[in-house]
Amino acid sequence: MSARLVFLCVANSARSQMAEGLARRLFGGRAVVESAGSRPSRVNPLAAEVMKEVGIDLSSHRSKSVDELDPAGVDLVITLCAEEVCPVGLAGARRLHWPIPDPAGEGESVHGFRDARDEILRRLIGLAATMVPVGVTLGLEARPEGQFVVARRAGEVVGVAGLERHGDAAILRGVEVAPELRGTGLGIALTAERLVAAQGEGVGVVYLLTTTAPMFFLRFGFRPFPREGVPVSIAASEQFGSERCASAVCMAAEL
Ligand SMILES: CC(C)(COP(=O)(O)OP(=O)(O)OC[C@H]1O[C@@H](n2cnc3c(N)ncnc32)[C@H](O)[C@@H]1OP(=O)(O)O)[C@@H](O)C(=O)NCCC(=O)NCCS
Repeated sequence: MSARLVFLCVANSARSQMAEGLARRLFGGRAVVESAGSRPSRVNPLAAEVMKEVGIDLSSHRSKSVDELDPAGVDLVITLCAEEVCPVGLAGARRLHWPIPDPAGEGESVHGFRDARDEILRRLIGLAATMVPVGVTLGLEARPEGQFVVARRAGEVVGVAGLERHGDAAILRGVEVAPELRGTGLGIALTAERLVAAQGEGVGVVYLLTTTAPMFFLRFGFRPFPREGVPVSIAASEQFGSERCASAVCMAAEL
């Protein structure tokens, strides 16, 4: 079953539009994502531009009024500006407020839009880390290769993801979900949990190697990254030096 998420800000022009695009990509089939505003205007061209930079196309988006939303079955409403009031019809849904500074207006620049986009993605990853399938619990486990989050259901391990620290960089490794739980959102939650942990520890860039799932990691903001450009400590790691990962794709995400 998928969750229904609604992002609101007054004009449905920049912040809620970017949130809609980023959440759709992150949650994929696990969520139905919409956005709207009390005074819709138009999709801000700079919002579209900075989303294009991260591979998300807003050209089919338009600013929508909250009155167009079907309030039935909305699970979560996220307001992105302080002035936006949650419509009465959505009062029963869970609410979150993410106060993201408005990048639009006088003196607006592409940098402000990038900052807003990146902050929205950080918050979405934080949300994803909490969306663990029912009956599954997460715990931490120190292993020689790094700190792992381990998912258990009825005592059985059903998923893992690890973070191997190298100074202010880290490697995300060993992301795996038991076949019977794949497609339940657990892989997204485990990956998100490790990225939140990395952020909390002050990690600046997370690298990974994958042969099977580059498209999966794009959701979190990872981009293909030239292997020869990774920091020395990452290049010297067991995983980056191993024969079995020789043909894997290297990806990196700035946190
Ligand atoms: C990759 C993996 C961790 C994803 O876990 P999961 O619990 O199935 O993923 P979620 O349920 O959280 O997310 C499902 C989404 O991810 C996508 N996805 C799953 N595996 C994918 C892959 N290998 N490549 C691209 N997308 C993938 C699904 O298509 C689905 O997309 P949708 O939401 O648009 O329908 C899991 O498939 C797995 O353990 N694979 C084997 C090990 C592996 O390849 N690890 C990865 C890196 S080294």
